[in-house]
Amino acid sequence: MQLLPRSRGAQRTFPLRAHGLLPTYLARNAVWRVARLLDLVGGEVIVPAYHHGVEIAALLHAGVAVSFARVDGAARLDLEDVEARIGPRTRALYLIHYAGFPQDTDAAVGLVRRHGLKLIEDCALALFSRDGARPLGSAGDAAVFCFYKTLPVAHGGALVVKSPLVAFAPGEPPVAPALAATLSHAVGSMLVTGERTLGAAGARLRGLARTTARGGRAWARHLDVAVGTQGLDPAALGLGMSALMRWVVDRTDAEAVVRARRANWLALHAQLGRPERAVWNRLPDGVCPLFYGVRVDDKARALARLAGDGIQAIDFWNRGHESLDAAAYPEARELRRSVVELPCHQDLGPEEVLRVAQSARRALEA
Ligand SMILES: Cc1ncc(COP(=O)(O)O)c(C=O)c1O
Repeated sequence: MQLLPRSRGAQRTFPLRAHGLLPTYLARNAVWRVARLLDLVGGEVIVPAYHHGVEIAALLHAGVAVSFARVDGAARLDLEDVEARIGPRTRALYLIHYAGFPQDTDAAVGLVRRHGLKLIEDCALALFSRDGARPLGSAGDAAVFCFYKTLPVAHGGALVVKSPLVAFAPGEPPVAPALAATLSHAVGSMLVTGERTLGAAGARLRGLARTTARGGRAWARHLDVAVGTQGLDPAALGLGMSALMRWVVDRTDAEAVVRARRANWLALHAQLGRPERAVWNRLPDGVCPLFYGVRVDDKARALARLAGDGIQAIDFWNRGHESLDAAAYPEARELRRSVVELPCHQDLGPEEVLRVAQSARRALEA
């Protein structure tokens, strides 16, 4: 079910048909491009102290300096702190919408207008998410997206630039990735899905495919560029998105993805019954949650307990970029110390969500 294309019905959901959409291999490739397209090179961009790390590396690699701004304990960017950091070299604000939950975009737009700056929205964790009726990524001068974090594709990100003239300005177009590597990932994803949906027969099929395809996969891996990595590989920054992955993304029923993720998030929230532990304890209209963020006292223990129950929870951002002075941003440091991602993705059914909630409740009591 995961990789089978859904109806073409909802393919117009932003950003899939956005003017000025440039598909890339990874979201970091889009960050690297936007620095040049918006003429930020040699200047400074204000970025949140709570970040993944690789988006900062991509900006630095493009020749942009960064200044870190405070993020509060509820993961909201402090726009007063942003304003205080604006200096003669500042050219843009880099706004991250965490896990699909919107920052105060109107206030950010107002701030950049007042100061003649550009606004970049990082929607790597916020594909298909909206702030009420407005899609995240549609208010700034540019936005970056990641497809593979939300959808079952082997790779894929995108850059959306408001002025299409800028998006199609001369520059090196993205280079297609190796087809063998793409196919290897795609088949792997399909086989994992087969195992989940066909049970024992699916597992046998996967085992057989694993044995017979070992040689082929080794060859494909040789050509492969990993996704989901913390470190920046400058050699991969020019890579684009394969036509196959674009085809899958274009056929995604985005509204169905949003509905399923919202339903799972709400069920998890109710069944977990610990709203005081939720990083975002409400699900505003339009939000497409990437995961359910929960604060734990001891991450390693909580993750081990969840893993013991077969739940793949993720340690969310325990380290930022090496240039960040973490001690200067205690709230962001606390988020890094405590936040765990619980899954709420579209392929989880009600029983699976209940299992996640029960296991998480036990982990919180531990
Ligand atoms: C906020 C944010 N921006 C950008 C990226 C880069 O995404 P990608 O791995 O597609 O390059 C990530 C990766 O996790 C991220 O969390």
